[in-house]
Amino acid sequence: YRFLLLNGPNLNLLGQREPDVYGSATLAHIESELRHKAEALGVTLDCRQSNAEHELINWIHEAATSNVDFILINPAAYTHTSIALRDALAGTKLPFIEVHLSNIHTRESFRRHSYLAELAVGVICGLGAQGYELALQAAVAQLQQRAN
Ligand code: DQA
Repeated sequence: YRFLLLNGPNLNLLGQREPDVYGSATLAHIESELRHKAEALGVTLDCRQSNAEHELINWIHEAATSNVDFILINPAAYTHTSIALRDALAGTKLPFIEVHLSNIHTRESFRRHSYLAELAVGVICGLGAQGYELALQAAVAQLQQRAN
């Protein structure tokens, strides 16, 4: 199976950005741990981060035409603002899991709403970097179930 991990705006600052909220691990570290996990599970993982909405949207379109089976996405602040990102996921019909490091439900009220969650296979939040690993594990299980 082929997986695409997308991280949205400001997540390139992980490690230095509000570590009390987002943890002290850098994105490079999180991605390399996840690549190991993918290898152990026998699946392919491509990791990308962008601060630009259009880039994330283009990568979703590309995923649909390049045999990606499943997307793991932390849309960051675009979670709460981007109808365009939602439309890209709806348009490609690629299954995805939405991940947030922090528990978006315990923070400012504007973080409680996600434009994407309704379309997601599942949403993981509040578990820090472990959320990405759980998402990958769950996504593999979902695909295996569908294949049976
Ligand atoms: C986030 C939560 C969002 O509200 C915020 O804008 C982020 C990160 C998280 O991983 O907890 O940038 O998606």
